[in-house]
Amino acid sequence: MKINGMPTRTIEPLADRSGVSIIDQTLLPFRYERVILRTLEDAAEAISVMRVRGAPLIGATAAYGVALALGQGVDLHRACGVLAATRPTAVNLAWALARMKSVLTPLSGNDRIDMAWAEAGVLCDEDVAMNQALGQHGAGLIQALAASRSGPVNVLTHCNAGWLAAVDWGTALAPIYTAHDAGTPIHVWVDETRPRNQGASLTAWELQQHGVPCTVIADNAGGHLMQQGRVDLCIVGTDRTAANGDVANKIGTYLKALAARDNGIPFHVALPGPTIDWSLDSGQAIPIEERRADEVSHVQGETADGQVVRVRLTPAATACANPAFDVTPARLVTGLITERGLCPASREGLLSLYPERRP
Ligand code: MRU
Repeated sequence: MKINGMPTRTIEPLADRSGVSIIDQTLLPFRYERVILRTLEDAAEAISVMRVRGAPLIGATAAYGVALALGQGVDLHRACGVLAATRPTAVNLAWALARMKSVLTPLSGNDRIDMAWAEAGVLCDEDVAMNQALGQHGAGLIQALAASRSGPVNVLTHCNAGWLAAVDWGTALAPIYTAHDAGTPIHVWVDETRPRNQGASLTAWELQQHGVPCTVIADNAGGHLMQQGRVDLCIVGTDRTAANGDVANKIGTYLKALAARDNGIPFHVALPGPTIDWSLDSGQAIPIEERRADEVSHVQGETADGQVVRVRLTPAATACANPAFDVTPARLVTGLITERGLCPASREGLLSLYPERRP
């Protein structure tokens, strides 16, 4: 994807391996700033406070975090433990760390460090290729709708599952970018996505950077727009998909799936293979992250004179709860969009695309 016309990835190693450059997403949409992660602690902090976020990018950052740790002389298993403890829901984190461990364990010394940087780079390149491929598969859904009607296809999305959430392309937004680039008229309804507002701050920003028409809506508006026939299709991402097709995604996704079902609107979930947790029989076992209460009681914004400030919304000392994800049961999901094609949200559907996982 491009920023100010320049092809850009969300995470890039420095050529001399002294650090890894990321976009500090806590500053968007107000400031576009890249920061350099130089240590294991930097990488873990960036994931925890969500300078980087989104399932694929969390995994990619963890992989580079391992490379940084080994360069500091930190033990491989300790490094993986520190990174694994940062965020619980996106399985891409555990997947990336398991992959790094399996490749690096047989090696030692400089060979291990060299391989860590190389493997993190390969993992990132694969992420780009997978998301580009799933974009091509998913674009067909949008193009089919476009062929059957006049005017833009109205797609509703939740949170940020765009290129900021991955190394490039994104998951839910990859089909949108692919169809848009092919000339299909599209308009995106962007759920603001309280409490952290990833839709309002990140999805709106990256869609605008790419020139895709979009409108931010309050989270509560989606059902009404669906009833009015103003949503043709929902596409969201997922942080962990259980083997039966249940999907965990940003809190509020489940409510949109219920509204879509009530209104007969297709509800698709886009994911690369590493987001599938084959060890879980159902979404009920997916760990749901509880984040800080002040993400609910406070919001960040920009004043008229350009200051980025945080303000409180609630009475002081109000109790707030902040479950960060919910699980949408497979029965509410019209289909999954993967790098290998489309499939029903079911065990058989997933196994038809990933037959090597068949017991
Ligand atoms: O808490 P976040 O911002 O990391 O949550 C991100 C999401 O919920 C995305 O929808 C998910 O990672 C989909 S994959 C791009």
